[in-house]
Amino acid sequence: MYAELDFRTPELDGLASRVIPDQYFELKAEDARDSYFTDSSKLDATQLVHDRFRTNPLALHDHLIRALDLRGAEELLDLGCGNGEILARIRPYLAAGHLVGLDIAPAVLEAARQRLDGVATPCEFVEGSADDLSAFDSDSFDRVMAVYMAHYVTDLQACFAEVQRVLRPGGRFLLATDRPDSMVEMYDAHFAALRDMDAPQHLFRATPKARISLDNGTEQLAPHFASVKRVDWQDQLQFAKAEHFMAFYRSCNYCCASSKPGEGLPPAFFTELEDRVHDRVQAVIDDIGYFALTKYTGHFICS
Ligand SMILES: C[S@@+](CC[C@H](N)C(=O)[O-])C[C@H]1O[C@@H](n2cnc3c(N)ncnc32)[C@H](O)[C@@H]1O
Repeated sequence: MYAELDFRTPELDGLASRVIPDQYFELKAEDARDSYFTDSSKLDATQLVHDRFRTNPLALHDHLIRALDLRGAEELLDLGCGNGEILARIRPYLAAGHLVGLDIAPAVLEAARQRLDGVATPCEFVEGSADDLSAFDSDSFDRVMAVYMAHYVTDLQACFAEVQRVLRPGGRFLLATDRPDSMVEMYDAHFAALRDMDAPQHLFRATPKARISLDNGTEQLAPHFASVKRVDWQDQLQFAKAEHFMAFYRSCNYCCASSKPGEGLPPAFFTELEDRVHDRVQAVIDDIGYFALTKYTGHFICS
């Protein structure tokens, strides 16, 4: 039943249609590696916040484990495995299996290696890009997953063709992403603060995830897989203290990956932006007791 929790309201839908821009930021994998993922601290912070403030009793890994439909001895490749948090959660379901984590960022890959150090299940960690899987033989994995990472991949069609090649017949590819209107409350506060500051127009763009979202993923995956099934689920993070939300906001690079200090905007701009977002969030907390962040997320199961 928790998989079917529905936080949508007509008000939230109305807010999304007013607030979420059609244009989105693009973030190249190499730029993400050299700025965002030079260590695993941002990833650690967002994972912690999701776990601590969620209201869906099922966590991300519970949904993924369901969708992976494991028997216990599969060989699994995790594209963009990050700090290995999800691999570590999945590992007990694959105690007799074999895990391979691939990531373009050496620092987070090292965090994954350390997280799984000493487990008896064979684990390998490979530095590389998800659109070139030439390190792996054809038909070598039973499961491949790409969790909140596909939007960074330069050549998505090459990536999906490669996934199809390395998957064994009967295997399954799981791609997790969001709907573009996920976390609309954060965008509302963020864009309202930017408007109050007369910010440059190029900052009014949606998350890079919109490049391959739940809404447009089917058409991008369909050329490569006989079956593509979309599964949606929701969560709502509820923050009773503005400071916890602000830590999350900062770890999201001030909402959008391209609006961050050092790219033509002085640090003072971000101090003011933060103060204004904080005040808006605090006003909601004063009014109803918490600030809600509604997550519209899910995955595609491809075979
Ligand atoms: C948002 S994190 C998600 C990490 C992990 N899948 C999770 O959900 O916890 C995205 C990860 O994808 C990696 N990444 C980005 N582009 C990549 C690419 N082209 N190939 C492999 N990894 C990539 C980043 O380095 C980062 O670790």
